[in-house]
Amino acid sequence: MRHLIDILDLTCEEIDELLDTADSIIENPAAYATRCAGKKLATLFFEPSTRTRLSFEAAMYELGGHVIGFSDAANSSSSKGESVSDTVRVVGSYADIIAMRHFKEGAPMVAAMKSTVPIINAGDGGHNHPTQTLTDLLTIRREKGRLDNLTVGFCGDLKFGRTVHSLISALSRYEGIRFVLVSPKELQVPDYIKDLLTEKELSFIETTDLESTLPEMDILYMTRVQKERFFNEEDYLRLRDSYILTPEKMRLAKQTLSVLHPLPRVNEISVEVDDDPRACYFRQAKNGKFVRMALICKLLEV
Ligand code: CP
Repeated sequence: MRHLIDILDLTCEEIDELLDTADSIIENPAAYATRCAGKKLATLFFEPSTRTRLSFEAAMYELGGHVIGFSDAANSSSSKGESVSDTVRVVGSYADIIAMRHFKEGAPMVAAMKSTVPIINAGDGGHNHPTQTLTDLLTIRREKGRLDNLTVGFCGDLKFGRTVHSLISALSRYEGIRFVLVSPKELQVPDYIKDLLTEKELSFIETTDLESTLPEMDILYMTRVQKERFFNEEDYLRLRDSYILTPEKMRLAKQTLSVLHPLPRVNEISVEVDDDPRACYFRQAKNGKFVRMALICKLLEV
């Protein structure tokens, strides 16, 4: 039985296969319409979500399966003190596969140790978000035709942004990736990510300046400042509008730039950018459903 807790649980070959399956689903969804007939997905969301939960649920329905679960932990027995381990042991007797989001880093890994069915990490605190990374990789490959030899800018909250940590880990395995890490000093990537890049002798720079680095980028991965991970509101208010991507700034970028954002967006991309063909974030959100369909098929071996 396989779980997906960290994107590095998958080899690059397995990621390629998942992206190929997602492309195939996009081309011919009817061929997958009964792949999960008789199977159930449980979505256990201890933290809010729109895209991840609903795309998982849509994915399972489009594979011919069923969905159970909760979107608000207050309505589950965790509010009475039940442990994550006990919850998954029980839910594993009702469902064939579980997608779990939790505010505590490591909770899906703890769940996987006790689970009798595959666990998918749908985001754990400020740590990891591997299915967002599969979504991001599918989007980059569909937009650029490759996953190597790219200058990839990450901008915003690189400290708490779990999607950033997962995507940097994933891209660190491809040839010729150059990382440009743009953030306020207080929101730089954690040391363990910098150590990974240093150990692998990968090219990266850290800067506070988006304008001067934007012209070099092939991909710009914008992120929201993660209000829910701050210890005091004053710091959040001071940092939240550090970077706002506008049509004026887009004029500095390559015509071939692809702008990604895991969403939700707050203020960091002006809505006027949405009509720019280089804005990929709504296509990216749509891709999430297809790659999650591919992942469910892989983990259920159907
Ligand atoms: N990108 C993402 O994880 O969005 P949600 O929080 O809406 O699931």
